[in-house]
Amino acid sequence: MDVVINGVGKTYPDGTEVLRNVDLTIGSGEGVVLLGANGCGKSTLLRCMLGLETLSQGTISLGGQSVSQLKGRQLRQLRSQIGSVFQQFNLVGNLSVFQNVLFGRLGNDGLLRSLNLTCSQENRERAMYCLDRVGLAQFAAKRTDSLSGGQQQRVAIARMLMQDVRIVFADEPVASLDPKAGREVMDLLFEVVHEHKLTVVCVLHQLELANEYAQRLVGLKAGRVVLDLPPNKASKAELAALYDREIDSAELLNGTEGACYAN
Ligand SMILES: Nc1ncnc2c1ncn2[C@@H]1O[C@H](COP(=O)(O)OP(=O)(O)OP(=O)(O)O)[C@@H](O)[C@H]1O
Ligand SMILES: [Mg+2]
Repeated sequence: MDVVINGVGKTYPDGTEVLRNVDLTIGSGEGVVLLGANGCGKSTLLRCMLGLETLSQGTISLGGQSVSQLKGRQLRQLRSQIGSVFQQFNLVGNLSVFQNVLFGRLGNDGLLRSLNLTCSQENRERAMYCLDRVGLAQFAAKRTDSLSGGQQQRVAIARMLMQDVRIVFADEPVASLDPKAGREVMDLLFEVVHEHKLTVVCVLHQLELANEYAQRLVGLKAGRVVLDLPPNKASKAELAALYDREIDSAELLNGTEGACYAN
C-alpha cells in the first residue's frame, strides 16, 4: 500500500504550527525511517497518516484512499489495514498475551469475537500461529503485563500479524528497550515487514539503527522535510543540521550500541 502526502500542514487548535507543506510519496513495500529532533513533528505526521488528526492543509492517501475524507465504516476498513507499533506497546496489561493477539481481529471481526467469547477456531489457531512466529507461544496464557518490555513489543507485532495489515506505522518502537532487546525487536519487525511485503514508516532516534534498517531516510525539521536519502548517504554535516548539534561518527556505525538520541 503506497502513501501519498500532498502539501500537508497541521496547526493544533492552540495555534502550534507543527507540519508545513509536507510532500512525501512512499512506494508500496518501501521501508522509510523518519528522523528529526524532539518536537519536529514526527509523531504528528504519523497521527495524520493514521487519520487521527484533521489536516489543516493538504491531503494524505493510503493505497489511493484519502484518509482525510473517509468516514465511518470506510475509514475503519482502511484503518484495519494499518498496523501501529508504539513506544508504550499499547497492549491491555491485565489480559492474557493470547487475548491481546486476538484483539488484532477487532477491526475485522468486531468486539465480541475478539474478546474470545465467540471466537472462531480459525482465529484461535491463527493467533497461536502469530504468537509462535514471534517466539512467544509458550507465553500465550500469561498476563501481558508480566512480560518484559521486549516481549511485550513482540506481542504487539503478533497482534499486527493477526490483523493482517498492509502498512505499518511505528513510533519509536524500541525507545524504552535496552539496546539488545531493541535490536531483537527491530530484527523481528523488519523480518515480518519483508515477509509480508509491507510498507513501513518508522520513527527512530538511533541513527545507527536507522542506517541499518531503512531503505530510505526522511528527515523532518520544524515540520518540513529537509532530508530524503538512502541509508548511509546522509553526511555528518546534513545530520548535524537536522539535529542542530554535532554528530559523532560512532553514532552512525551499524552494530554499535549506546548511541542514542532518546529524550
Ligand atoms: N495535541 C497537541 N496540541 C498542541 N500541540 C501539540 C499537540 N501534540 C503535539 N504538539 C506539539 O507539536 C510539536 C510536535 O510534536 P510531535 O509529538 O509531533 O513531535 P516529535 O517529532 O514526535 O517529537 P519527539 O521526538 O519528542 O517524539 C511539539 O511542539 C508538541 O509540543
Ligand atoms: Mg514523537
